[in-house]
Amino acid sequence: MAITGIGLMAFVLAHMLGNLQIFMGPETFNGYAEMLRSMPGLLWTARLGLLAFFVVHIVTAFSLTGTNRGSRVHRYAKNEKVQASLSSLYMLETGLVVLLFVLLHLAHFTFGFLQPEIFTAVDAAGRHDVYSIVIYGFQHVGYSVFYLFCVFMLGCHLHHGFQSVFQTLGFNHPVYSPLVRRAGTAFAAVIFLGYASIPLSVLAGVLG
Ligand code: HEM
Repeated sequence: MAITGIGLMAFVLAHMLGNLQIFMGPETFNGYAEMLRSMPGLLWTARLGLLAFFVVHIVTAFSLTGTNRGSRVHRYAKNEKVQASLSSLYMLETGLVVLLFVLLHLAHFTFGFLQPEIFTAVDAAGRHDVYSIVIYGFQHVGYSVFYLFCVFMLGCHLHHGFQSVFQTLGFNHPVYSPLVRRAGTAFAAVIFLGYASIPLSVLAGVLG
């Protein structure tokens, strides 16, 4: 879980940095999308690697939850946690929201099923107009709100996931572990704000 978690966190960070180029305008953003598509070998290696990481991460999550629950004949009658953050208690639930989100997100931006009327748009240079597709998507208030909810859930998942990686890999230190926890909070906040800034800017009319 930890190794695939690191890979997925690296993707989430890289994808966010790529997406933030939307603030530099259609020229830069469509150029970036075109650049990714012009390297099919790299793109498909990354896609297949990402898919494998997702599958292993999810299968391990279910088997871990099963082991945790199965290790007691009866579930706890009273479930008082001594020291646990809210995000650590709902990893399976927040993870499932992220999974549902990714499936819808692929249907929307990769396969063009959700808003087919814009999906084939091209810009003046004849490139796939990913800029207009993203803006058009977030002008739909319902979609933006759903999106903001999902990236918040992603932030919650990462809030615990970040520090959990260190724990799983055996890093436990009286001085540094609290720093790792704070770094996890900062990472989660950066990811949430970075992704949320795009639909929020479209709704506010700053991007368009
Ligand atoms: C403001 C937020 C986001 C925007 C604007 C955005 C935009 C996009 C776009 C335009 C694509 C299609 C790229 C292309 O085919 O040219 C894409 C693909 C993808 N996005 Fe996002 N995304 C966002 C958030 C996220 C988040 C939070 C995740 C993961 C939790 C995610 C996971 C993916 C995946 C897995 C793909 C498929 C990559 C591929 O085509 O191989 N995205 N995104």
